[in-house]
Amino acid sequence: MKWSMIATWKMSYDGVNKGVCLLKDKKSAKDAVLEAIHAVEENEAFHSVGYSGLPNEQGVVQCDAGFMDGKTLQAGAVGALEGVIHAVDVAYECSKGRFNNVLVGEGANEFAASLGMKKENLLTKESYERYLERKKENQPLSSYDGHDTVGMVVLDQQGHLVSATSTSGLFMKKRGRVGDSPLIGSGFYCDDEAGGAAATGVGEEIMRGCLSYETVRRMKEGMSAQEAASSVVFEWTERMIAKKGYCDAISLICMNPSGEIGVGTNIKFAYVAADSDSNTEIYVALPKGKEVVIRKYDSKIDDLD
Ligand code: GLY
Repeated sequence: MKWSMIATWKMSYDGVNKGVCLLKDKKSAKDAVLEAIHAVEENEAFHSVGYSGLPNEQGVVQCDAGFMDGKTLQAGAVGALEGVIHAVDVAYECSKGRFNNVLVGEGANEFAASLGMKKENLLTKESYERYLERKKENQPLSSYDGHDTVGMVVLDQQGHLVSATSTSGLFMKKRGRVGDSPLIGSGFYCDDEAGGAAATGVGEEIMRGCLSYETVRRMKEGMSAQEAASSVVFEWTERMIAKKGYCDAISLICMNPSGEIGVGTNIKFAYVAADSDSNTEIYVALPKGKEVVIRKYDSKIDDLD
């Protein structure tokens, strides 16, 4: 049976390879996505997710994460979670219940503690130094240069889809700010009967269009995965520019129930994909009018994470 995996940013590469091993072994999409996102959350080289994430205004790393199961449509999310490396695990645990599927702040931390997850300091020396520099520069709020959320959509050999996200969010954000990543339908969405999607970029821009849901809805209506992702990002970008004169960075990945993938972006964007017919590969997507041009990542010319 076919399996397939797509993930945002080059930083996902090692994690995707771990997920691929599980999928080849007929493990579930849920197991593959959690394993793959753990690898990104744990890696201190990546400053936009989990351990060594860049902090908020107060110098505290607050993480957001989401998880959705396409078979049951159970979804869970956490916002402004502090000191837990695997925020995606807490989101997954939240997705299991009938109630309390979305937890934020202290409540999310209490829930993580009740699951036995230990609290750790996620702020590394390097992240703290970047924080001090940014404070000195007194620069306006900006998304982390080059990449932010790790988002993934996975199809397993049993034909089930999952989508999940994890991020430390916008660098120097206000305490308690949540982005799109823990918002069901904005940062992620998944339905075995229609497809799955996940977003990365500036949360405020993504959440007002519920862009992951919209991408899945278009696939359900018959668009290919590529058409759905590229049309959603293109149309939303045009609309935002018409309304307010600019549109912040938005990138979307998606997958239909057959495992075909799509990518939409209004910036230069790297992603990782693998399936039962092709090895894990890093690609670069570039917007070109209504379309997206895709090519393999080239380390000589692409300085993307
Ligand atoms: N996309 C992540 C955020 O805006 O926090």
